[in-house]
Amino acid sequence: MDEGKITELLNKDLEDEHGAIIQYLTHAYAMGEGEMACEIEAIAREEMRHLDWLAETIVELGGVPSLERGTMRMGGEPVADWMKNNVMLEEGAISQYKEHIAPIDDPKIKRLLQRILSDEESHHGDFVHFIDKAQREKAKDLRGSRADKVVQTLNWGVAHEYTVILQYIFHSYMTTNEEAKKEFGDQAINEMQHLGWLAEKIVNISSRPRIEHTEVDHSTETADMLRADIKIEQEVAAAYDRAARETEDPDLKKLLLRIRDHEIYHTEIFNDLLKKEERKD
Ligand SMILES: [Fe+2]
Ligand SMILES: [Fe+2]
Ligand SMILES: [Fe+2]
Repeated sequence: MDEGKITELLNKDLEDEHGAIIQYLTHAYAMGEGEMACEIEAIAREEMRHLDWLAETIVELGGVPSLERGTMRMGGEPVADWMKNNVMLEEGAISQYKEHIAPIDDPKIKRLLQRILSDEESHHGDFVHFIDKAQREKAKDLRGSRADKVVQTLNWGVAHEYTVILQYIFHSYMTTNEEAKKEFGDQAINEMQHLGWLAEKIVNISSRPRIEHTEVDHSTETADMLRADIKIEQEVAAAYDRAARETEDPDLKKLLLRIRDHEIYHTEIFNDLLKKEERKD
């Protein structure tokens, strides 16, 4: 099988990992704090590792990682039904990985997909168990339907964080500058924290996080990546600052200011990297 064809299969797997991550995070946030929500979040983190391995392999093959998101199985009520959806998603992943492993000759890629497959089999078992557990514990969807300015602001934050997570991981895969690669990866992890904080806050104030993103910068030259990243960081630091000043809720104010400070830090990191990168030319 040629590299182009393998890249195509791996990108399909990557898109489905992306869909699984968002499906599981949506469930974990909606269930609030609790053992099951934590375990589901841990599974989502394993899917993030899969996504990362797949993307790295695609780049090694000379391809470009896809940022499309595979189909999600949302819907359903109560929580036990969500777990059934997750079982079905894992079943789909298991059969797809098996189909993709068979025709690939490269032993390293075959081994990687087998490694991922064994995780999916374990997730499948976990979700089967969670169907039962959700029924027993009468697990609830804690999201409400509040829709006001605060919710809008928080959901704007979620959309921003999701966008930069994708943007920074994409940049981390595409850059050839090792230092920038590490920073993009680190800052993406920090943005994932922000997304989690904002989504949990939204559920706490009785509303629903909307995990959708806006346009992602697809630059392939490191300096262009950094310029795009600095621009977005400056804009959002200012927006978080404005939102913090407008809110009356002291906890929310604290949260927004904390995120703002992180974004200012990101701007500085990216500025330093850009200066170094420009000196190279
Ligand atoms: Fe999985
Ligand atoms: Fe952020
Ligand atoms: Fe940031």
